[in-house]
Amino acid sequence: MFDYKAPEALLKDRIILVTGAGSGIGRAAAKAYAAHGATVILLGRTISKLEAVYDEIEAAGHPMPAIVPLNLEGAAVKDYEEMAMTIEQNFGRLDGLLHNAAILGQRSPVELQDPEGWNKVMHVNATAPFLLSRALIPLLRESTDASIIFTSSSVGRKAKAYWGAYAVSKFAVEGLSQLLANELDDERHNVRVNTLNPGATRTSMRARAYPAENPDTNPAPEDIMPAYLYLMGADSHDVNGQQINAQ
Ligand SMILES: NC(=O)c1ccc[n+]([C@@H]2O[C@H](COP(=O)([O-])OP(=O)(O)OC[C@H]3O[C@@H](n4cnc5c(N)ncnc54)[C@H](OP(=O)(O)O)[C@@H]3O)[C@@H](O)[C@H]2O)c1
Repeated sequence: MFDYKAPEALLKDRIILVTGAGSGIGRAAAKAYAAHGATVILLGRTISKLEAVYDEIEAAGHPMPAIVPLNLEGAAVKDYEEMAMTIEQNFGRLDGLLHNAAILGQRSPVELQDPEGWNKVMHVNATAPFLLSRALIPLLRESTDASIIFTSSSVGRKAKAYWGAYAVSKFAVEGLSQLLANELDDERHNVRVNTLNPGATRTSMRARAYPAENPDTNPAPEDIMPAYLYLMGADSHDVNGQQINAQ
């Protein structure tokens, strides 16, 4: 497991947006960021789940989060731009962006992949992070120490049979991360971009991918948070364009 002990105030006064914040790894990351002082913007498609995370953060006495309901499957370019405007009006900048939301899609040989399903996975997992990054980069540039984290997967670094559009979408995410790591690495060095592979983690996506597996063999989302904290806080200031593993 990634060996990093985050200082309690690691993310004090930082504004961090987490996609897919209502469940699984995104929920754990949103709560961990808030527990370390961040104001977290919870983005997701199921409002009741986002509200539950909001309530947990509020009950723990951490900085009050914000909720952004957005379905990455159907959102239009103007939805992203309006969201960026709202964040600018409320906070003036963004210090962190965790691209976490994703769907698994069909596990099957390429020749049997349903083209519509393929497009949906590519859109949610790869095009939506592009649209979101595009809209939010101006706000990230306003930060003195901003971090963009793209969630990858082992099959996004080395493809394995039957992982279909999911694997290809994660390769796209690795490419987008490399592009941005190069483009944003200017003389100010204030925005860094990396990919993070959580590794096998006990969530509903993992259960769908490996229905026969005993879930207890994998760590809980909370157990892999050291890597998520490290990459979001100032201790990773000089880490840019890297492929990190949480486990
Ligand atoms: N778990 C693992 O073993 C593992 C391994 C490697 C990589 N990963 C990656 O880690 C990340 C988190 O996965 P997880 O295991 O936590 O999965 P999960 O439990 O299925 O959670 C996925 C999250 O994404 C959200 N989401 C899905 N489609 C969306 C859409 N159209 N619009 C907005 N939000 C959407 C979901 O919202 P709802 O709750 O509303 O559905 C949910 O909050 C993903 O990028 C995944 O590829 C996971």
